[in-house]
Amino acid sequence: MTPIRILSPDVARQIAAGEVVSRPLDAVRELLDNALDAGASRIEVELLGGGLKRVTVRDNGAGIPAAQVELAPLRHATSKLESVDRVTTLGFRGEALWALAQAGQLTLTTRPATQLGAVQLTAHGSEVNVGRVSAAAGTTVSVTGMFAHLPARLRTQATAAAEAREVTALLSRYVLHWPGLHWRLTVDGDARLQHAPTDTRGAVASVYGPLSANRVLKVDTDLVSGVLSRPELTRPRRDRMHFSVNGRPVLAPPELEKAVIDGYAELLPAGQAPLCVLDLRLPPEDVNPNVHPAKAVVAMADLGGLAERLQLAVAQALAAHPLAGQVPALREPSGPVPIPTAVSGSFPGLRPLGVHAELYLLAEEVTAGTGSAGEELSGKGGDLWIIDVHAAHERVLYERLGALLEGAEPLDLPAPELLHLTPGQLARLDERQAELRGWGLDIEAFGAGLARLRSLPAAFAALKVPRLHELIVETVLGDLPDPRRELLGRLACLPALKAGHVTLLHGERVLADLAACAQPWACPHGRPTVLRLSERDLAHSFGRRGPRDVARGRDLNELKVETGDH
Ligand SMILES: Nc1ncnc2c1ncn2[C@@H]1O[C@H](COP(=O)(O)OP(=O)(O)OP(=O)(O)O)[C@@H](O)[C@H]1O
Ligand SMILES: [Mg+2]
Repeated sequence: MTPIRILSPDVARQIAAGEVVSRPLDAVRELLDNALDAGASRIEVELLGGGLKRVTVRDNGAGIPAAQVELAPLRHATSKLESVDRVTTLGFRGEALWALAQAGQLTLTTRPATQLGAVQLTAHGSEVNVGRVSAAAGTTVSVTGMFAHLPARLRTQATAAAEAREVTALLSRYVLHWPGLHWRLTVDGDARLQHAPTDTRGAVASVYGPLSANRVLKVDTDLVSGVLSRPELTRPRRDRMHFSVNGRPVLAPPELEKAVIDGYAELLPAGQAPLCVLDLRLPPEDVNPNVHPAKAVVAMADLGGLAERLQLAVAQALAAHPLAGQVPALREPSGPVPIPTAVSGSFPGLRPLGVHAELYLLAEEVTAGTGSAGEELSGKGGDLWIIDVHAAHERVLYERLGALLEGAEPLDLPAPELLHLTPGQLARLDERQAELRGWGLDIEAFGAGLARLRSLPAAFAALKVPRLHELIVETVLGDLPDPRRELLGRLACLPALKAGHVTLLHGERVLADLAACAQPWACPHGRPTVLRLSERDLAHSFGRRGPRDVARGRDLNELKVETGDH
């Protein structure tokens, strides 16, 4: 490792100015970054009194050689920075330990594995003391009495419980992005979070529980690795979308969150967000963490291009997996929930069995392959599938209408139709006019709250939908963000087969068409088209040990022969 040295004033001036440590959360983040930069495989955090009393971070990383320890708490002393334009470590300013010694009493105990005896340094303000102690290899840093000498700063701190909650959330993000390490957080002596090395899916289990972990898919490309939730695991908020850039957990710019949501397209209902843990790998020169003293925000070059690549990676990862919803468990599973092995490929071969409630088609899987528990399946049997024929038909029609809209010719109306638009609709017309014209839909503002409908997409003009023009205009100028999706969704819904009208023949046809869809797993509104009940769950619910623990016809025949012999 490069020795610690003081940055030249020129370089120091290029570092983003600002307060590095303004609350215990900042202290924890800085100390975690130091432990990770030191290559630790085990990191423990202890919080007392929300961190104001004491924050301790213990690691088993490289440690600081005795001769350099005294440099560590000096301002702009760092062993890391090569160039402000190319940061490859989490720390780079040489300011964190200095700032911690200004905020409270800093105690640093450190020993590289090959050194005999550890060094303990205490620093508060400009007062520094160093002594020899014995300690395990690695580094332990504590800050006690944070802001005790700064009453104004102390008065504006959050409550201990609130700060502990934020630290738990911060540590959770580190666990998600660094799942291959041992992690432990205690708050006032109670273990809050523990994690032993796993992959990202295992980290999701540590942070959000096994039910969530069972509902994520892996993504792994040159740009991004991590996990994405299956469409059934959605949330109205984006609070479980986690991103890191070159190992640094960051608050992602909204453009990247949107790219992920757009990658799901209609697999998510409008306004819903997935759970994701995405580690982006970018060339260090395209990332600038030197924009904010808390380093939680980084600037990225060509964010637009990056968002496009991310959206594509998400869409491709989702397309590689069957995304049928799981039938809710028939009863609570006992013991640990097994993690299903993801079967790659798209829609399976299904044999229709019958129609239930004049809406749902029941079907069994006929393809040979591997079952959800990893066992070999062939011929009949396997999972039971339930297809919502209305939703599936909507999906089929949605894709057909979407194809018709590509390069649609405009059909001029014999006479323009006069429309009354609300101020909101007029504003949206202004915004969307060019996009709508691309579909052959020409609406022209006319002043005084009026507009004229001049042409429609030719392919839609013939649809047998009551009050078609009104429906089209209202939908495309509505307040939902994606007019194309809304319009195609509404037009697909109207003629789609409804409950009470579904026969086995209809069901079979819709199933065949659904299997040919680009995205068969959700209707245009983001509801699932198919659910799947694994044979294994079915067997368990009947108290059997597994799908093979069933007397088969063949076995019964053998039994008869045997009894006949006696
Ligand atoms: N846990 C640790 N293990 C090993 N060395 C450490 C550890 N913590 C700090 N150091 C050493 O002390 C130096 C100063 O740490 P400090 O956190 O103040 O600065 P930095 O990490 O280099 O930059 P930044 O201010 O951006 O965090 C580091 O460069 C590193 O050499
Ligand atoms: Mg640091």
